[in-house]
Amino acid sequence: MERRRASSMANRFLIAAVLFVLSCSSIQETAAQTSSFDDNFSKTCPETHFTTSADGQTWYLSLDKESGCGFQTKERYRFGWFSMKLKLVSGDSAGVVTAYYMCSDCTHLGAGPERDEIDFEFLGNRTGQPYLIQTNVYKNGTGNREMRHVLWFDPTKDYHSYSILWNPLQLVFYVDRVPIRVYRNANYTNNFFPMDKPMNLISSIWNADDWATRGGLEKTNWTLAPFVSSYKDFSVDACKWEDPYPACVSTTTEHWWDQYPAWHLSDSEKLDYAWVQRNLVIYDYCKDTERFPKVPEECWISPWA
Ligand SMILES: *[C@@H]1O[C@H](CO)[C@@H](O)[C@H](O)[C@H]1NC(C)=O
Ligand SMILES: *[C@@H]1O[C@H](CO)[C@@H](O)[C@H](O)[C@H]1NC(C)=O
Ligand SMILES: *[C@@H]1O[C@H](CO)[C@@H](O)[C@H](O)[C@H]1NC(C)=O
Ligand SMILES: *[C@@H]1O[C@H](CO)[C@@H](O)[C@H](O)[C@H]1NC(C)=O
Ligand SMILES: *[C@@H]1O[C@H](CO)[C@@H](O)[C@H](O)[C@H]1NC(C)=O
Repeated sequence: MERRRASSMANRFLIAAVLFVLSCSSIQETAAQTSSFDDNFSKTCPETHFTTSADGQTWYLSLDKESGCGFQTKERYRFGWFSMKLKLVSGDSAGVVTAYYMCSDCTHLGAGPERDEIDFEFLGNRTGQPYLIQTNVYKNGTGNREMRHVLWFDPTKDYHSYSILWNPLQLVFYVDRVPIRVYRNANYTNNFFPMDKPMNLISSIWNADDWATRGGLEKTNWTLAPFVSSYKDFSVDACKWEDPYPACVSTTTEHWWDQYPAWHLSDSEKLDYAWVQRNLVIYDYCKDTERFPKVPEECWISPWA
């Protein structure tokens, strides 16, 4: 009896895994435009730490003891679809963090009340140990909305797409078009949702060996520097911010990312999302009752809402 139950569970898992893989592979990536880095981005690092491929379409950021490197979009956006392919530092990358995020006020150090953020952070690890992907949301300078996932592939072997869908109802974090996290607007309860501030898309590589890997126990091995993360296929379909506010906010027919289908997960996305929740989540602030004796109100909203 027990064994039969176990094997039917295993079957169900297998079926779920197969469905999952099928639904991932049936998704087409939209072709990214080819354009030069300088058309859309400015960098914030020494020339020595930024290089491109011969055709200019792949970019490499490097980190050594002297400096990290970052870039950000020249434009600011409020709501839309943002996507890029990344290949992360391979081998021993413990202590190294590659951040890929949207931020409204990140030219200043420290998070002031003007800062909203939507973050992906990739936390490096010792050779053969799994990368963690940490996501977070900031509102008015306050974050503390971390989730951590492991991935279903090695993010250092190949390029994978990491995307953000942002509209007034939800934020969705996608990996290869699989929704790994849904953060819904709870404005009627605690107003903790990035709504009104336009953001730049930013990426950077930096040393965070005081906290990133096994809570800071694993230090960056500088004899292996430079550490390099690679980027390509930037694509954005969003409201560019133009003064006067609000130039592009509400729904018009071409803004697919703020139309009914983008306000909720689709049925197949729900299956993928449920699979991720069961198998890949290793930390969820909503369940951390030690840190939050009173569960933050947005945690009560169903991702299916
Ligand atoms: C990059 O910038 C160029 C020139 O401003 C623009 O035409 C193009 O659409 C931009 N590419 C993306 C992906 O936004
Ligand atoms: C947020 O609140 C405004 C005003 O109360 C309301 O019109 C809007 O529908 C709400 N949005 C969501 C996503 O609940
Ligand atoms: C953020 O600031 C805005 C404007 O001051 C305010 O309306 C909103 O309630 C604040 N939200 C949170 C979660 O602090
Ligand atoms: C690194 O690997 C260790 C051991 O497998 C694991 O406990 C940890 O969660 C991994 N990631 C980070 C960022 O510490
Ligand atoms: C750092 O990397 C070097 C070169 O691979 C290796 O010889 C050394 O053992 C590493 N140190 C640590 C602490 O892992």
